[in-house]
Amino acid sequence: MTSNAIGVDFGTSNSTAAFFDGKEPVLAPLEDGKFDLPSTVFFDFETGQRKYGRSAIDAYVGDGEGRFMRALKSILGTSLEDDFTYVSGKRVAFVDIIAGFVRSIRETAEEFRGAPLDKVVAGRPVRFVDEDDDADRRAQETLERIFRTAGFEEVSFQFEPIAAALDYERSVDKEEIALIADLGGGPSDFSVVRISPAGRTRADRSGDILATGGVHVGGTDLDRLVNLRKVMPEFGMDSRLRRDFGDGTITIPRHVFVSLSTWQKIHLLYDPAILREVKDYLRLSTSPERIERLAHVLEERLGHRIALEVERSKIALTDADDAWISLAAIEKGLKVDIARAEFEAIIARETGAIRKALDVTLGDAGIGSERISALFLTGGTTAIPVVRRALLEAVPDAAVVEGDRFGSVGIGLALEARRRFG
Ligand SMILES: Nc1ncnc2c1ncn2[C@@H]1O[C@H](COP(=O)(O)OP(=O)(O)OP(=O)(O)O)[C@@H](O)[C@H]1O
Ligand SMILES: [Mg+2]
Repeated sequence: MTSNAIGVDFGTSNSTAAFFDGKEPVLAPLEDGKFDLPSTVFFDFETGQRKYGRSAIDAYVGDGEGRFMRALKSILGTSLEDDFTYVSGKRVAFVDIIAGFVRSIRETAEEFRGAPLDKVVAGRPVRFVDEDDDADRRAQETLERIFRTAGFEEVSFQFEPIAAALDYERSVDKEEIALIADLGGGPSDFSVVRISPAGRTRADRSGDILATGGVHVGGTDLDRLVNLRKVMPEFGMDSRLRRDFGDGTITIPRHVFVSLSTWQKIHLLYDPAILREVKDYLRLSTSPERIERLAHVLEERLGHRIALEVERSKIALTDADDAWISLAAIEKGLKVDIARAEFEAIIARETGAIRKALDVTLGDAGIGSERISALFLTGGTTAIPVVRRALLEAVPDAAVVEGDRFGSVGIGLALEARRRFG
């Protein structure tokens, strides 16, 4: 039976889409045969075209004149949600930029499928916004609007870790209670779910969800922390400015450095007013060579180059004890070394917060950790050794099951789409 329903996992860092091909859920190749599409957009100023995914990254890194954006999902539920940006003098709403990205996913999947796909189950984090139910609800409404603008006629939602549980459930042969951990670029999400071969055919699974929970800490936050601690000092963070009037010096304001380290805010810095501010710093700085670098980064729009290098070194530290952050794109030969132990210290608070959210979710489930037979891991951030250890220690008796790190949520959403839409 053919279905015109699809599951779409619009992620902070990567996205996937999957549909039922009659027998099984399959991921659609979204770019050059690859199933995961980096959640990136590049507006090419020369051609006026938008590029997505790896080709957006390539165009940006290849010195294309234009505007690059990533981690746009992170604006949902924040004040940036209603914001605009200017691209070649034209005002564009962020939500429309996201809708264009989602539309391209739909169109690519339709082409692969050879049939229209107009119904969707979209993934959503357990919480878009911590401790604010209204903002959380609005974030989902905005995402629904985005999916409609992208051309879907029917839009419904499922929690991302529940979708991952549905993927895992395909492989079990007896009833068990699993802890699903989905740690990606944005929030870290957990769910405690009863899964079983019989469950696969039940329409209503609410009785099988013992608890869901999470915290707003993910891979992009770790990138920000590393960037702030290791890289931004090279661009003058925490350096001193002479007073315009009077004696003595003050510490340079932090906001430019914080935005430059935060994926979804980098593009906000490419504003003439900010550059003027930085030129003022340059005039007053006691370390002008660092502020020169900062001005160069803003003028040449190199902020995402730094963030991409930081992320690359973070990923390298998953397998290596030492790595370096290359800043050669900014200045020949410039680089910063980082050791895994140092990285672990930088993210210690975040690792603790992730573990705490897991413990709270387990507590909400009202069962002892010994009742959890499997810990199912999905999402790129579960690869980080120190994060993994924190998760494993919480459920020492559970078998560790490696999901498809980037595809489990999409597959689960396709299963859910079939259940809801046929
Ligand atoms: N081998 C690795 N080691 C450490 N981090 C990794 C690794 N591979 C990917 N990551 C990180 O995982 C994150 C992306 O994971 P994933 O694709 O699961 O996120 P996402 O689904 O886009 O985000 P979310 O579900 O939170 O919206 C990025 O922050 C990336 O840097
Ligand atoms: Mg995800």
